[in-house]
Amino acid sequence: MRDIRQMEPWLGKEEEDEIIKVLKSGWITEAVETKKLESEIAHFVGSTYASLVTNGTVSLAVALMAVGIARGDEVIVPDFTMVATPNAVYLAGAEPVLADIDRSTLCLDPNALDRHLTRKTKAIIPVALNGRAPDMRKLMLWARRHNLFVIEDAAQAFGSTFGGKYLGTYGDIGSFSFSTPKVITTGQGGALVTDDKRYYERIIRLKDFGRINRNSQEHDEIGFNFKFTDIQAAIGVAQMGKLSVRLKRKKEMYALYRKELEAVGDIRFLETDLREVAPWFIDIFVPDPVSLKKYLQKFHIGTREFYPAIHTTPPYKNRGAFPNSLWAARHGLWLPSSSFLSDSDIIMICRKIRTFYGRP
Ligand SMILES: Cc1ncc(COP(=O)(O)O)c(C=O)c1O
Repeated sequence: MRDIRQMEPWLGKEEEDEIIKVLKSGWITEAVETKKLESEIAHFVGSTYASLVTNGTVSLAVALMAVGIARGDEVIVPDFTMVATPNAVYLAGAEPVLADIDRSTLCLDPNALDRHLTRKTKAIIPVALNGRAPDMRKLMLWARRHNLFVIEDAAQAFGSTFGGKYLGTYGDIGSFSFSTPKVITTGQGGALVTDDKRYYERIIRLKDFGRINRNSQEHDEIGFNFKFTDIQAAIGVAQMGKLSVRLKRKKEMYALYRKELEAVGDIRFLETDLREVAPWFIDIFVPDPVSLKKYLQKFHIGTREFYPAIHTTPPYKNRGAFPNSLWAARHGLWLPSSSFLSDSDIIMICRKIRTFYGRP
């Protein structure tokens, strides 16, 4: 029986051809190919500017730095997210403040944020977990009312929308990740999108040692080296050509899993509007994810347990109670989600899951 991993990247001849072109050009660091991918990303989501950086953790930190977040500032983040979100706040020198999620979206609840405000609160990072978003209009209104910057962590939401508008384009700056398991990948990689020229120019300096321009050795502020490479951009350009097919396939896969499993009383799916959401991972909620995971392992079917609730991990202990986040962490399981899985693969996987729950 072949191994079905929970998630695998999908690369082909197109990526190989693009990489060879870059190698033959004799220039492999960030240059024309990176510019090309940046303009494709900006065009796709409909933002004025896009900038590529090393990964989606650094992109969040650079976004915070670009709007001026620094030591002494507090940034509200969800307690249920990949740990890169709060860690990036520390990378920018500020303090993350955890907030509980809404069980229906797994995202921050815009109606339950007031209690986290202090005099030090300067920004909020809504995370569009698995392509689902909080009510972004409500969240933006709340943030503006309190004079907060909004940095969208859309690492898992490239190609998903809220109210017909791409996630990543509501806030001051949006951040994406192109790490290996994402809908499209560049191996590692992150992108920032914004409509604000000042933030864009700041991002360009921050990722390039603070230099006032590429050909200069003058720097008028402290910056770093978070630049991309044209080899990665070559992979990204080829992957962009496959994006719309992949987004469509993710939606079909989610619908098929749901159809095959929704009669099983022990399994819960979140209400998911597939006109807007392209789930990168197929997520279900079950009483005991670990025993289902172990059972499927016997058939070489890979799954992945959800992230732990951030406040239960050693660096973030004693920061309050977050019951919805705990619920998600205890009951969530990601099923096999590689875009190249066939319908018959999915039907076979679902049959095994139904057998586990004693269903025909
Ligand atoms: C919600 C979220 N934020 C940030 C990141 C960090 O991205 P990267 O792995 O590219 O650093 C990830 C990665 O999966 C993520 O899922």
